[in-house]
Amino acid sequence: MGNNNYDEKGYVAKHQRIPYYPVAFEKGDGALLYDYQGKEYIDFLASASSANLGHGNKEVADAVYEQMQNITQYACVYFQMKEAMDLAEKLVTLTGRHNMQVSYSTTGSEAIDNAIKLARAYTGRSKIISFAEAYHGSTYGSLSISAISLNMRRKIGPLLPDIYHINYPDMLRSKYGKDEDKAIEAYLDELRYAFEHYLPSEEVAAIFMEPIAGDMGLVVPPKRYVQELYKICKEHGILFVVDEIQQGFCRTGKWFSYEHFDIEPDLIVCGKSIGGGLPLGAVIGSKEIMDALDAPAHVFTMSGNSTVCRASLKMIEILERENMNQKVVEKGEYLKNKLRQLMNKYEIIGEVRGLGLSIGVDLVTDRQTMKKNSDAAVKISYRSIENGLLLISVGQNSLRIQPPLVITYEQMDKAIDILDGAFEDYRNGKIGDEIFEFAKGW
Ligand SMILES: Cc1ncc(COP(=O)(O)O)c(C=O)c1O
Repeated sequence: MGNNNYDEKGYVAKHQRIPYYPVAFEKGDGALLYDYQGKEYIDFLASASSANLGHGNKEVADAVYEQMQNITQYACVYFQMKEAMDLAEKLVTLTGRHNMQVSYSTTGSEAIDNAIKLARAYTGRSKIISFAEAYHGSTYGSLSISAISLNMRRKIGPLLPDIYHINYPDMLRSKYGKDEDKAIEAYLDELRYAFEHYLPSEEVAAIFMEPIAGDMGLVVPPKRYVQELYKICKEHGILFVVDEIQQGFCRTGKWFSYEHFDIEPDLIVCGKSIGGGLPLGAVIGSKEIMDALDAPAHVFTMSGNSTVCRASLKMIEILERENMNQKVVEKGEYLKNKLRQLMNKYEIIGEVRGLGLSIGVDLVTDRQTMKKNSDAAVKISYRSIENGLLLISVGQNSLRIQPPLVITYEQMDKAIDILDGAFEDYRNGKIGDEIFEFAKGW
């Protein structure tokens, strides 16, 4: 660990850290990172999918530098900062829809809170439905609709009232059997049952869904489930809200991951990569829904600040120019094929799934029981990082593979070699339990 472990003095509170490996990064270049000893790492995490364009992008840095020399930011709540207006127009264009508006926040979590407020105000209803094992953020609103970790909810109550959770349609570990059509119906029946027995549908404001359940393990739901759920929302006057914070901005080979499901969500919640590396959150929705709130219902001094908006605009310009969605589809297929080859070699890989460059590798004790193997997930992540591949696990047992979208084929090949070595070491019992003295994982 040595002097690369900047956490040794313990000045940062433990409740903000989920440790995997003791390293701090000094520099980055595209999909590469360098620690303070100059050691190189291939980035398979993209700073939790918040660095889609990769690290050290010169064009973004120049745009930020220029903006900061002119004016870093000036409270958008009082004056019309051009950069925020320009970005709002661009974001609406990306949805391909009309009469849409944007409402800014500084983080994804705040943007989720904004969507909760908008849904309640617009519908005049209070109840919100989201999914068990979902992560939507750390503010009171966003953590109240999250249901992934007891530590997020312990000791701090009461949380937001009127929140209900249903099960995400995970087909690998289906609670309702292997027949997909039957399982889809059974997952939808959870909601129908609730509407019949304890949850008046006319009091439900919105359903919040991640079109790919990120922190649950990058679980991709069946398209028909999403479409049916959407239909149920429309039948009952419930808003369908998509959380695109982790999956948006070309991560899955589309601007927004909901596009894979041919639905038109009422609110699109963005965060992470939207800011081109700087903090930004946004909700995109119809003017009609936005008009449900009056100022100052959701204002933050720093939200929509000019420097962040310039970074975002530049990033979008580059993603468009590079035809990034097409590239992500191709790279994603390449990487998934390589990972499936590893599956032939290692029995503990239960499934490789995902869209574009949002890929989960589900580790199991064996393929008969498909029991989650969190021991392997933390140990293989640890050994991979040690050997120069930055990688963590989510959903207890899935390797989270979300590299910067600019990753090269050569880097992907090298990363697979490192991963292969880590799997081999795990199989041979060469990664001891002592790593748990540091590594905790989700
Ligand atoms: C799906 C999802 N929603 C919301 C959030 C919260 O975003 P932020 O950390 O920017 O507040 C995250 C962050 O991990 C996320 O993955």
